[in-house]
Amino acid sequence: MEKREKLYEGKAKILYATDNPDTVIQYFKDDATAFNAKKKGTIDEKGVMNNSISCKVFEFLAQNGIPTHLVKKLSEREMLVKKVQIVQIEVIIRNRAAGSLCRNYGVQEGRHLARPILELCYKNDSFNDPLMNDDHVIALGLATEEELRTIKRLTLQVNELMKKFFLALNIELIDFKLEFGRHKGEILLADEISPDTCRLWEVGTGNRLDKDRFRNDLGNIKEGYQEVLKRVTGK
Ligand code: TMP
Ligand code: ASP
Repeated sequence: MEKREKLYEGKAKILYATDNPDTVIQYFKDDATAFNAKKKGTIDEKGVMNNSISCKVFEFLAQNGIPTHLVKKLSEREMLVKKVQIVQIEVIIRNRAAGSLCRNYGVQEGRHLARPILELCYKNDSFNDPLMNDDHVIALGLATEEELRTIKRLTLQVNELMKKFFLALNIELIDFKLEFGRHKGEILLADEISPDTCRLWEVGTGNRLDKDRFRNDLGNIKEGYQEVLKRVTGK
């Protein structure tokens, strides 16, 4: 596998071409941002930890019938993935209230929700990733009706699977964000699944084991990621 030119650099990852036009290398950086990059920093070894955690979660989801972009883990910070065209929507599921749901709707943090909330956001930093509904998605041509149905179905399945996956590690899945991509006509789960993109609370203590330690200056940031890594990989 030959690594070629840089294709794209985002806030937490870099994509590199390979000698195969159907695959790219996803490289995980230590950079961390929050609140649409108004807050910036680095978390030592975050890239290594998020790569490992993401690979394990994608493998688990694939074993349970979810189509994902993961081909294989290549190195500490690199994942080989199928090349996709990213659908410009961030799909969020909330099982308990936290973050922007509390800020925007005055809901008490930790409140149990009568049912999961599925949010669609426009993936566009210049506009602050605004919340949108199905009509926006279809009318603006971000996805077809069939693609949107598939994305929502897969997201709800991923929620049920990931809730069980983390609960077995004594971690409660509070909320998370997914991204999807198109590959040869198929919708695949893409991007990453890590403490950057999920809220993970330790069962019993309520300890935050995710990026909220960075967002909200809670301290021991690296240790949160390390704890998730340890539980997910058994190391
Ligand atoms: P929020 O409460 O800030 O809207 O975040 C909901 C979930 O989505 C949380 O698990 C963090 C994740 N998330 C991302 O992965 N990327 C983002 O840019 C944002 C805003 C949230
Ligand atoms: N990654 C996002 C950003 O910088 C936000 C977040 O995860 O809170 O802006």
